[in-house]
Amino acid sequence: MSFRHQPAPPARPNRCHLFGPGSRPAIFEKMAASAADIVNLDLEDSVAPSDKESARATVVKAIGAVDWGRKTLSVRINGLDSPWWYRDVVDLIEQGGPRLDSIMVPKVGCAADLYAVDALITAAERAVGRDRPLALDIIIESAAGITNVAEIAAATPRLVSMSLGAADFAASMGMQTTGIGGTQENYYMLQDGSRHWSDPWHWAQAAIVAACRTHGVLPVDGPFGDFSDDEGFRAQARRSATLGMVGKWAIHPKQVALANEVFTPTEEAVAEAREILEAMEAAKARGEGATVYKGRLVDIASIKQAEVIVRQAEMIGDQGTASAG
Ligand code: COA
Ligand code: MG
Repeated sequence: MSFRHQPAPPARPNRCHLFGPGSRPAIFEKMAASAADIVNLDLEDSVAPSDKESARATVVKAIGAVDWGRKTLSVRINGLDSPWWYRDVVDLIEQGGPRLDSIMVPKVGCAADLYAVDALITAAERAVGRDRPLALDIIIESAAGITNVAEIAAATPRLVSMSLGAADFAASMGMQTTGIGGTQENYYMLQDGSRHWSDPWHWAQAAIVAACRTHGVLPVDGPFGDFSDDEGFRAQARRSATLGMVGKWAIHPKQVALANEVFTPTEEAVAEAREILEAMEAAKARGEGATVYKGRLVDIASIKQAEVIVRQAEMIGDQGTASAG
């Protein structure tokens, strides 16, 4: 056991990031009225190059004009390899006003990328006298990003969440697929002549979860492209939750309820977690470090597992967003 404690991630409901193009203001009110914990207005890849300037102006105006309720409001800026990103940051902070909670940085490849963004944000915040530091949400979606994921997770105290962006990741890795997340037809094992599909996103997700958990950052699963496939979304989201991720993106409003369903601990799970904590309290009072709960071993590690579930449920309840819808 290292003597360094694992830091707790920020207490922010993060079951679903709902995305929408910054060039489509007609859906902003709908995004604000949705059951997503986080709204992500996009200036990057869902906005055509010819619309970049007008989308930025539209988003800057909407930050203060739309009632976003208690949602986390985040704007995805353009990548650091583009000519747009610095003005995205400057205009969002100088003209967007205090309601903006976070900036999402796509295609992060190394810790120095975040150093650069952090430096620009810090200067702009000081210039306008902003008193609440902006958070950073970032996307790991390249070979460099996954290679340097540990240093990226440690790069700045602004960092709150890290998402896996499956489409750009697959492209950067040269993966032979055009699918955005989920089962890939050619990724299978053969056993006695029958095919058993495996999960090509698994290792990248596990690497992100490990880096995030080491540094107190929330690990998030990114988009699932086929929004007509609810069961496919559910299966991908359940695998992500099992691996330790806390939420998933919605690229269509119908995916919000699916993400909330998977990432809201069920009443049974919360009740069981509370019972485990009680069983362990009783064990401790007897001077025991382990006991039996429903025929299985529970010990001091089980306390931490149960606390994760109870904490998640309490946080979601506190936000008044406990519904799965
Ligand atoms: N957020 C909130 N509401 C949305 C929405 C979104 N992202 N996308 C669509 N809607 C609304 C529509 O306005 C429509 O509302 P209505 O019933 O009041 O008319 C309803 O949801 C159904 O929309 P639908 O017709 O099924 O979809 P569409 O063709 O209008 O849009 C997409 C489909 C995929 C183009 C759109 O959802 C989208 O742009 N998603 C986000 C893409 C993105 O941001 N990508 C970057 C991250 S990967
Ligand atoms: Mg991308």
